[in-house]
Amino acid sequence: SSYQLWGGRFTEQPHQVLQELNNSLSLDWRLYADDLDASKAYAEALMRAGHLNAAECDKLVKNLELIRYDWIEQLVKFQASDEDVHTVNERLLVELTGELGQRLHTGRSRNDQVVTDLKLWLRKAIRETLGRLSLLISSMVEQSQSHLGVLMPGYTHLQRAQPIQFSHWLLSHAFALREDCLRLLELRDRCNVLPLGSGALAGNPLGIDRLWLAERLGFAGVTGNSMHAVGDRDFVVDFIYCCSLVSMHMSRLAEDLIVYSTKEFDFIKIADIFASGSSLMPQKRNPDSLELIRGISGLITSNLAGIMMTMKGTPSTYNKDFQFDKQYCFQAYDKLAQSLDVAIGVIETMQVQRHQLEAALSSDMLATDWAYYLVRKGVPFRQAHHHIGRVVTLAEQRGVDITEVPLGELQQICAAFGADIASVADYGYNVQQYDAIGGTATASIVEQLRLLKNLVKQL
Ligand code: ARG
Repeated sequence: SSYQLWGGRFTEQPHQVLQELNNSLSLDWRLYADDLDASKAYAEALMRAGHLNAAECDKLVKNLELIRYDWIEQLVKFQASDEDVHTVNERLLVELTGELGQRLHTGRSRNDQVVTDLKLWLRKAIRETLGRLSLLISSMVEQSQSHLGVLMPGYTHLQRAQPIQFSHWLLSHAFALREDCLRLLELRDRCNVLPLGSGALAGNPLGIDRLWLAERLGFAGVTGNSMHAVGDRDFVVDFIYCCSLVSMHMSRLAEDLIVYSTKEFDFIKIADIFASGSSLMPQKRNPDSLELIRGISGLITSNLAGIMMTMKGTPSTYNKDFQFDKQYCFQAYDKLAQSLDVAIGVIETMQVQRHQLEAALSSDMLATDWAYYLVRKGVPFRQAHHHIGRVVTLAEQRGVDITEVPLGELQQICAAFGADIASVADYGYNVQQYDAIGGTATASIVEQLRLLKNLVKQL
């Protein structure tokens, strides 16, 4: 027996090719629990509005729970006429309760139903994404904490720039993820507005108490215009944008780690369980995990382009085009989840090569601090910069370190040089000078760790 929601004015079934294109069950079955939750609340709202008596409402609610059990036990069998998850749940309810089940959709449309379900689903998706982000940030906090004091070259343009602490570099990535968490928290609040009760487009004429429904389903308020509510997918766009940004940040983390794990750098070692070999070259140890994380950000961002292209230029209210929203939304969520899980593992298990990190420092990276030395002696910075530039050139011509240029010659370049310039040759000491908020001094890093731990507690 086929169950269709809209057969009355038709004399024939849709063509099979259309049925196949129209069918969204392979994707939207994932909304089954949200659909049942929203339906239970809607049954109660119908009772409160006098369209069902208490016993009828009770029976609907109990049978919706039986359907949930069937889904969990994988006992639900799909039929060719099942267009989507809403159709399946209603068909099963009617099979269980007969005419009573046919009353549930009173005043409701799949247009307000599907947005409500998707918002309920998104709430969980945001929570789980925040959970994963919190684990990733914690793993970075942990590695940073246990490697406080480890120095390394800091880069701009991938060129050697200034000495920094390893933890400062790692936390720079954690801070990008911190912004992502704050963005997701904002989104969670902004999309927590209930569309149910908007009907197909015009609203609800049957006395449904939308404010009560919102409270019942844990929403902070209700949408303010029914036509906007059924035609709005901005919350999906926002979510996929958040996912794209997280994945973009992780692609940059991955790229740093890929470079740092080459033999040429050898700053970190990826654990065996997150590396792969080559089918041809026996010696190879490839950072596939990180390349997948880097590559997946392209896939996730393609979902952002997809949902934008789908929404663009559609007329007001609901259009079937929107059915593809779930494909983009679920793919962005799933791929991000996989990639976050791998990133957590990589960071937790990577080995930090302290010796190689510190051996990579060289005295040319002290040039900036030498300029600051002259500044402290009263030389204007622009002149100091120029003097040190000459010292660097001189050292380069002789093939020696700047620290090996004799004091007499330094003083010929600038009279302000004194014997105490020798004290500006210690990388550890130099790093500690950067103690303004956000810098690479230990005191600043400890403050960064505190901020991140506070965030994690809040997630
Ligand atoms: N499966 C549809 C979707 O995901 C549900 C809404 C259908 N509404 C309609 N008027 N055809 O968008």
